[in-house]
Amino acid sequence: MSTELLIEDHGTTASEFDVETGRALTLLMCPPKLYDVHYVINPWMRGNLGKSNRERAMRQWQRLHDVLARLARVVLIEPVAGSPDMVFTANAGLARAGVVALSSFFYRERQDEEPAFRRWFEEAGYHVVDVARATPFEGEGDALFSADGTRLWVGFGTRTSVESHAALRGLWDAEVCSLHLVDERFYHLDTCFAPLSDGSVMYFPEAFDAASLAMIEQFYMPEQRIVVSEADALRFACNAVNLDRTIVLNCISDELAMTLRERGFDVVQVELDEFLKAGGAAKCLVMRLTPELHSGHSESGFSAEDLIAIEDLHGAHNYHPLDVVIEQASGAWVWDVEGRRYLDCLAAYSAVNQGHCHPAILRAMVEQAQKVTLTSRAFRNEQLPLLLRDLHELTGYAMALPMNSGAEAVETALKAARKWGEVVKGVAHDRTEIIVCANNFHGRTIAIVGFSTDAQYRAGFGPFPAGFRNVPFGDIDALRAAITPQTCAFLVEPIQGEAGVIVPPEGYLREAARLCREHNVLLIVDEIQSGLGRTGKLFAYQHDEITPDVVIVGKALSGGFYPVSAVLSSREVLGVFQPGDHGSTFGGNPLACAVARAALKVIVEERLAERSAELGAYALARLQQMRSRHVVSVRGKGLWLAIELNTAARPLCEALRDRGVLCKETHETVIRIAPPLVIGKEDLDWGLERIERVLQED
Ligand code: ARG
Repeated sequence: MSTELLIEDHGTTASEFDVETGRALTLLMCPPKLYDVHYVINPWMRGNLGKSNRERAMRQWQRLHDVLARLARVVLIEPVAGSPDMVFTANAGLARAGVVALSSFFYRERQDEEPAFRRWFEEAGYHVVDVARATPFEGEGDALFSADGTRLWVGFGTRTSVESHAALRGLWDAEVCSLHLVDERFYHLDTCFAPLSDGSVMYFPEAFDAASLAMIEQFYMPEQRIVVSEADALRFACNAVNLDRTIVLNCISDELAMTLRERGFDVVQVELDEFLKAGGAAKCLVMRLTPELHSGHSESGFSAEDLIAIEDLHGAHNYHPLDVVIEQASGAWVWDVEGRRYLDCLAAYSAVNQGHCHPAILRAMVEQAQKVTLTSRAFRNEQLPLLLRDLHELTGYAMALPMNSGAEAVETALKAARKWGEVVKGVAHDRTEIIVCANNFHGRTIAIVGFSTDAQYRAGFGPFPAGFRNVPFGDIDALRAAITPQTCAFLVEPIQGEAGVIVPPEGYLREAARLCREHNVLLIVDEIQSGLGRTGKLFAYQHDEITPDVVIVGKALSGGFYPVSAVLSSREVLGVFQPGDHGSTFGGNPLACAVARAALKVIVEERLAERSAELGAYALARLQQMRSRHVVSVRGKGLWLAIELNTAARPLCEALRDRGVLCKETHETVIRIAPPLVIGKEDLDWGLERIERVLQED
């Protein structure tokens, strides 16, 4: 594969950068297409003139890029001919909160980079400040914020001038502290000093003069100081990119790696020796555009605690959510108001199979919202017919009836089945029966909870509509025995989700379909959670190679942007509805239809069902191998897994949250794992590792 391709595969281009919607973490990198050592401006470059291997550099850089791209959003700047050191974007300037203090380089050799970086920042919408026109300032290479953002440590003595420090004061609300660099091998502050996210600092003391050391020791307590040996300092250990709990750096000693791991960091070592030839490593190759210097407050100005308190005060307490207040999300990841990142292993109960904020669906939503959002079905709209046709082409069902929430679609299916029972099958008026399964979950309306077998779902909400019979899930004899001449339908989840991802015995659905056909009973499958790729097929019923009479879809039908649901069936069934029989103001509105069309397209084009099958089989096998005294069994289909425990699941979900993995318990003892289907293999491994660790503790 050519190096060009490598970059295009993984990179986000500079033009996609949007300050408004910038993620909590955005990093700027420059591919080393033109990297070279062809002048000497630091001791590392001595003896390395013309000795760098560009292809090797490219591979090392790409690896660093890929590691970082899983932790943050990486945007790229194109290198400029004649500026081989432009790969070291840390020296472009210092950015925070939409303001960039632009660098002015000490050596003439790097000064041509200035206009290129300036142009890039301006185009990206930054407020560009020239801090030091006549006096050198080399950006983030020499200026580093403390983790809490209250202090800006700035180096001087080698490159950045002490005069430039004054200009940095007042740019941000941080105290500027000057550190004198006295060892020419550590000519940029970021080569010997790294404030870490847990409030500690990793540094090489010999690189500083006594007064600077005293200042460092005053700010960082002894237990917050990680002193690096000369050998590690020379491996550029301090030149580390620290994002949240992860530290990415050049290869270091086992001792130092241990120390960092004991402090709770994930240490990712990436070989970067090609860049050491120019005096740089991981941190030099990266500039933070939006440092995760969180005030602990959301954009609204409220802390997580405030927001939880407000919700508890003014919201009904019909949920007991995990206390993580999410502010933004992308793909399989979400960020809380404090900027902490979590792997989403619930995917909003499979509504975000396509990943959070999928760009194609977002585009469709914004474009449609600018045209027309709601017409009501009193008039026609241009999007509804197109969604109906897409659904037909994708699923083979002749007709569809779009609604909004899943429960509404279930109600719609029940109404269709009852009317079909009277009109087509000929059951006496008000005598139709519908068979449902024990431990079902189809929603929360009164009719639906009326046939739930979960006492809590029903308690206090009766009286309930009659006409439903309950049979054990997976028991074909019970189904056969429950069918009467009045039975119009059998409503079933192919895999019971809320019940704990219960997979029925092999062949159950096939046999149920046969029984239904034999007795002229409609088979209605609720694919709201199991459908649209989750179990490794477009629909879970396809594992049994059957064609149900009615299919109910929702959740991922919109990719999480908007509630969209639908009932899919034949002309014979949906044909029973006459004008005025049934309706919904929002059902089939143009915004919903445009979103749903885009969401379906993503499922097909990104082969999400296939991904689910592949990654799910891998994850299931891996979790089944895990030895844990808490685990009774692991089951599931596709990326829809459940870990059955012999202990309460909630505390484990809380422990997982603290390690950056969001799972939700179902019932008392089941942890469900259902990440967005776009999840990368490496991200999945990241999550599985943490799940294994938490389940294997004590
Ligand atoms: N050759 C480059 C220079 O001497 C390396 C820059 C390394 N950057 C850094 N942030 N330490 O300017």
